[in-house]
Amino acid sequence: MSGGKGRLIAVSNRVGPIRDTPQAGGLAVALVDALRERGGLWFGFGGKLAAHPREAVQLDSFEGLHTATIELNTADYHSYYNGHANGCLWPLFHFRPDLVHYRRDDYAAYLRINQRFADALAPLLQDDDILWIHDFHLIPLASMLRARGCRQRIGFYLHIPFPALDLLLTLPNHLELLQQLSAYDLIGVQTPVNLDRLHDCFTHLLGLPQDGNCWQTATHTLRTGVFPVGIDVETFEGFATQPRAVRTVNRMRAELRNRTQIIGVDRLDYAKGLLRRLEAYERFLEQHPRAHGRVEYLQLAPVSRGEVGAYQDFREQMERDAARINGRYSRYDWTPLRYLNSPLSRATLAALYRASAIGFVTPLRDGMNLVAKEYVAAQDPEDPGVLVLSLFAGAAHQMNAAVIANPYDSDAVADALETARVMPLAERRERHAELLKGLHDYDARRWQHDYLDVLSQNP
Ligand code: G6P
Repeated sequence: MSGGKGRLIAVSNRVGPIRDTPQAGGLAVALVDALRERGGLWFGFGGKLAAHPREAVQLDSFEGLHTATIELNTADYHSYYNGHANGCLWPLFHFRPDLVHYRRDDYAAYLRINQRFADALAPLLQDDDILWIHDFHLIPLASMLRARGCRQRIGFYLHIPFPALDLLLTLPNHLELLQQLSAYDLIGVQTPVNLDRLHDCFTHLLGLPQDGNCWQTATHTLRTGVFPVGIDVETFEGFATQPRAVRTVNRMRAELRNRTQIIGVDRLDYAKGLLRRLEAYERFLEQHPRAHGRVEYLQLAPVSRGEVGAYQDFREQMERDAARINGRYSRYDWTPLRYLNSPLSRATLAALYRASAIGFVTPLRDGMNLVAKEYVAAQDPEDPGVLVLSLFAGAAHQMNAAVIANPYDSDAVADALETARVMPLAERRERHAELLKGLHDYDARRWQHDYLDVLSQNP
């Protein structure tokens, strides 16, 4: 049990489903767990946009879980979400300054939406509440709540990578961003390397005095720490072994006719390294003619943030490259690549992971990557598949027993695929057991407990 008696107030851009949590994303499940244990409220955007949004907060409850959601102004939301959050901060934090579009108007809308969150949230707070703010959409929120007189403990968790100092300098308002971050009581990140980069910026750009993971600001002590996001392992194992999943796995295996299935599952996002992944697969097919007709690569890539220009360009390029590979290598009785944009339920995904001998997870940059963890959790321990994982996924820090590859080196990724394809059963079992142990040791529950324990302590 986490320490502290106050309610937990979780805040995120969108509030996830509370009525059908088994289908919700891993993170939503972790938050819901934390909220159920401590009691509290999940606050955020409810999904309704309007030219004149209602001021009132909508309250909802289900099985002891309470949410408070707000409506937002349509134009502001687009500039905040497509503009500053996903057109500027996301590419910058994923080391893609070439894709950054910074506009003052978008930043102003980002601040207005954060002000709106602060205005609606402040009156709901009680003195001993603990606030946990999530992700890059809401960086300024603590400073805005403080300006409204809120004295509660406020923590921030960054789900995505933190950029290197040189990259952050390209953001015109980088000092403001760091000051906004320094208003928190605790900042959590996914891996030690992200923490080092954050520390670099606090030291060299803000000049804050440091004592280990404690920083002295003019008003308070700010703490920082590494809290890698985990998954709810049992729930995902359960998905993969329920009767419906078993039927899906059997059907898929029959269709595969002993072919090795490679699976990739990613939001259609340039940070996921999908273009380079296709290139590496093509390289693999070039180098291993014996694998022709024996492997099939299934790439699921549900469309994401489709209104942002960089995502549209990237989608077109994916379609061209996927078509090229199939045009070049397909035979009348074999299609080397299946590329799908439709989203699938988590239960179906679990079955597909279990039917796939190789999990192909090669982002160019990723905060953590829960697909890597879910792929491992879905495997049959007696006959597990092999995870091929990018060096630049946060997950690589914890998942050493995967076959780790550099996604910028298509030859190395092609080699990793071949290593995975021919790996003997004993080695697969050994690696899988180690990976699974890691998932259990640091699961979603441990993540939220560790974070909230530190946030609740006095510095
Ligand atoms: C990443 C971010 C999350 C975000 C998710 C989906 O995991 O860290 O904050 O919610 O992507 O992106 P979307 O824009 O659809 O919310």
